[in-house]
Amino acid sequence: MEAASLYLDLLKKSLTDTLVRTEPDVGAGRARFVLDFINHYIRGSAVTMLPRVRLDQLQACIEDVLRRGVPGDLLEAGVWRGGAAILMRAVLKVHGVTDRSVWAADSFEGLPEPDAARFPKEAAAFHGPVMRDAYQRLAVGLEAVRANFSTYGLLDEQVRFLPGWFKDTLPQAPIGHLAVLRLDGDYYESTRDCLVNLYDRLSPGGYLIVDDYGEDEWTDCRAAVDGFRAERGITEPMVQVDSRCWYWQRSN
Ligand SMILES: C[S@@+](CC[C@H](N)C(=O)[O-])C[C@H]1O[C@@H](n2cnc3c(N)ncnc32)[C@H](O)[C@@H]1O
Repeated sequence: MEAASLYLDLLKKSLTDTLVRTEPDVGAGRARFVLDFINHYIRGSAVTMLPRVRLDQLQACIEDVLRRGVPGDLLEAGVWRGGAAILMRAVLKVHGVTDRSVWAADSFEGLPEPDAARFPKEAAAFHGPVMRDAYQRLAVGLEAVRANFSTYGLLDEQVRFLPGWFKDTLPQAPIGHLAVLRLDGDYYESTRDCLVNLYDRLSPGGYLIVDDYGEDEWTDCRAAVDGFRAERGITEPMVQVDSRCWYWQRSN
């Protein structure tokens, strides 16, 4: 393996806290997985809660758009402790890219409260003990995320933060084209706010990744994506990364 690959491999192991430990097994029973997830990511020191396969897929998308010259920046909507966005910045660094930015959009105060009338499944999870007490609704402040970038030597002017709710920050965000758009805001409205405000900025040939498309126990994320694709007549095939995460490549 060449030095760049070795660096990115080590970085992904560090971000996922899998240098020594193994990641929770998504194929284990639900109760076992949730417990292991809380222990490994929430109580642990991992900087991303993405499993390794999703980080590898994110890296592959970025390297593909760089290789093919697809114009635009990289954006993650929903960054938590920042790990996936840190990987985005590292991939640009490794390839000597100085004319693209990484955008990190988040409330930096956790998940918004879902409308219980429209999204009862999401509201039940939001108010349930796992999300409320164990996950603390995924709130991680901006300074903590900036510090995580800094820890890895990757906080610079090519990293741009968009603090606030997506519905408020994304419409007027000073973003031009995007080459990779990664949606990880969990809920229907968070996902739809991103699609409505950002999809038109995704360059042809760019990638749209939806972290929770395959999850239907606690989110209506898939309905947001399916509804948007139907409204806009998007027919590019969706590709599965693992049991939860899917993506498509924009063709026009
Ligand atoms: C599952 S976490 C993201 C995980 C992250 N991508 C990683 O690498 O570990 C979901 C994040 O989305 C954010 N979020 C969800 N809905 C949002 C919204 N409507 N506006 C702003 N932030 C939102 C939460 O604050 C949280 O940090």
